[in-house]
Amino acid sequence: MKIAFIGAGYVGLVSAAMFAHLGHNVTCIDNNHDKISALQNGKLPIYEPGLGEYINKARLAGRLSFVLSSDFDSCRSREVSQDPQESKSEEETDAIFIAVGTPPLASGEADLSYIYDATMQVAQSYSENTLIVVKSTIPPGTCKSLESMLRAKGFSHKVASNPEFLREGSAVEDFLNPDRIVIGVSDQKAEATLREIYKPLDPLIIKTDPTTSELIKYASNSFLATKIAFINEMANLCEKVDADVEMLSRGMGLDHRIGEAFLKAGPGFGGSCFPKDILALSHLAKTHEQPCHVLDAVIFSNQNRRTHMARKISNTIGDLKGKVICVLGVTFKAGTDDVRSSPAVDIINILLQQGANIRVYDPEGAAHGSRLLPEATFAKDPYEAATKAEAVVILTEWDEFKLLDFKKLHDTLAKPNMFDFRNILDGEQLQKLRFSYHRIG
Ligand code: UDX
Repeated sequence: MKIAFIGAGYVGLVSAAMFAHLGHNVTCIDNNHDKISALQNGKLPIYEPGLGEYINKARLAGRLSFVLSSDFDSCRSREVSQDPQESKSEEETDAIFIAVGTPPLASGEADLSYIYDATMQVAQSYSENTLIVVKSTIPPGTCKSLESMLRAKGFSHKVASNPEFLREGSAVEDFLNPDRIVIGVSDQKAEATLREIYKPLDPLIIKTDPTTSELIKYASNSFLATKIAFINEMANLCEKVDADVEMLSRGMGLDHRIGEAFLKAGPGFGGSCFPKDILALSHLAKTHEQPCHVLDAVIFSNQNRRTHMARKISNTIGDLKGKVICVLGVTFKAGTDDVRSSPAVDIINILLQQGANIRVYDPEGAAHGSRLLPEATFAKDPYEAATKAEAVVILTEWDEFKLLDFKKLHDTLAKPNMFDFRNILDGEQLQKLRFSYHRIG
């Protein structure tokens, strides 16, 4: 099938590449000149394991191309003006996926202006045979109001919802093995188009109306965030009653009604989705005079988590003024170079405010991290970051941190304090090496 994507951000780029891998002809359009020219030259603007190979193969096979919005608009308007009554032809695009950003406004509400602009552009450039599919995370009711806007302006395109559940760091794997594909459609033709697009994956498809589909995405992310906030609060309690949060997670998670996933205690959730989506859902609930108190508690708990982590450090090593702290990991989780809403960034900022000298090492996050944290020093390896430091603080669960030469690390430090805020190390082994080991829960 012939597919286009508006937006070569994380969701758009991964989905476009993987649809091309499934055999569709995909054009990925973005208004960022640098991003498009990098992609046209075979360079990836994000770090995502395995994605580069899929993009290269699909481009070589002639099934994936990257186009700058302005170049694309001029081509399309020439085509449309030559044949204004264009009926469905082999060349026509079957579906165009909108994957532009929905950043939070100051109120927490999602900013939908990019979605509305992109939808109008698509309607002006494509015939009504092209299905408009919104992949971006949008509040319930948005597809309906996009269709109303189009009708008011004389366009009759259908707008469907098809939320994305890919996780950064395992997006390729998630795309190829989805738990489910949700399609929110208001007519059979739209349903048939989306079923055909996903056919090679033979997935479990949940078909619903667009509004429910939109809510499924928000509710799924908010529920997962709730599980994390819950286990983090339990970790605090474990510390008070001398229980073990790792065993607690396992003991709870093996109950299949609860499930083990997303019960790993840590420094709080971050990333480009959970914090933004839970805020947007809470805001939406309030605008409908149906506040979701659970969501508000999760937001509060997750914000507090940052200060709680910083306090754990200062409670042990005292006044931080002038002290060197080595931080391992700045990305919001392992497997990505993304530092958006990373707990590590917030915790480092609190430590900086308290006068600490922060030295960071992250295998992938240094470029983005150093832009957000100009006062921190970024080291080329963990040992350089740890030199004469009063503590090592692990904030991202990179595998390579489990394989450090801990004896060497111990000898490099001024004081052997290890704060393992991802619970990834063997505490007994570290204590044998005379580390003062602190973990979560
Ligand atoms: C999330 C959703 O999982 C995905 O379905 C959606 O499409 C986009 O948002 P992502 O942001 O890539 O994906 O990260 P995810 O793996 O879900 O982790 C989010 C945050 O929660 C990270 O900061 C992570 O460290 C934290 N987390 C996750 C925990 O603290 N404990 C856990 O058990 C799981």
